Amino acid sequence: MRESPQFHPHSKAGRPAVEALLDLSFGPARQQRTASLLRAGASRIDQASFRLLANGALLGSVECWELQWHGQGQSRRIAMLGPIAVHPDHRAHGIGAQLMERALAELDRLQLAVMLIGDEPYYGRWGFSPRHTGGWVLPGPVERNRLLLRAPVPQQFAGAATFSAISPAIPSIARPTARSAA
Ligand SMILES: CC(C)(COP(=O)(O)OP(=O)(O)OC[C@H]1O[C@@H](n2cnc3c(N)ncnc32)[C@H](O)[C@@H]1OP(=O)(O)O)[C@@H](O)C(=O)NCCC(=O)NCCS
Repeated sequence: MRESPQFHPHSKAGRPAVEALLDLSFGPARQQRTASLLRAGASRIDQASFRLLANGALLGSVECWELQWHGQGQSRRIAMLGPIAVHPDHRAHGIGAQLMERALAELDRLQLAVMLIGDEPYYGRWGFSPRHTGGWVLPGPVERNRLLLRAPVPQQFAGAATFSAISPAIPSIARPTARSAA
């Protein structure tokens, strides 16, 4: 009998399948992509990072990372969503949307603005827009209309800005909140 898809946390044992899915989805040069360079050294937000499995097979994966945004004379925490990938055999059945919604619910619980590099025609449905990201400086090339932000007050992230990774010891991320632990 076909099991309905279930969310699972990322794990060491599950890593080879995730890496294979990412190779399939983004190609072997994916480590050189600007998104990979941007999250290098960042802490993964485990509460907002999931695999979706059915009958032991990996259907999709999403991971989120904590970065520090530096602009307007201050620094702000921000989540970076990605990579997100759905196995080519299972695309266009709403799995990408399920992964997005689950990850964003957790990031909202953590009250984090979210950035990603992706297509606005897909991510716009969750409020992602390139409107305030034009001044951001990334560690590699990016198509400006694919640099997207989702924030309650996006103007707070407007203007010239850079990013850095946050060390793993951020207590609010390392420890689940009371609500997410429930
Ligand atoms: C992007 C991705 C995660 C979407 O997953 P999915 O499970 O196929 O998505 P959903 O089923 O939720 O949504 C499918 C719908 O989104 C549309 N869509 C998918 N990717 C899109 C894109 N890049 N731009 C615009 N629309 C897109 C599909 O055409 C489909 O439209 P329809 O519902 O009108 O038929 C998946 O296509 C994928 O793994 N792509 C390769 C990796 C990648 O590019 N990841 C994103 C960058 S981090």
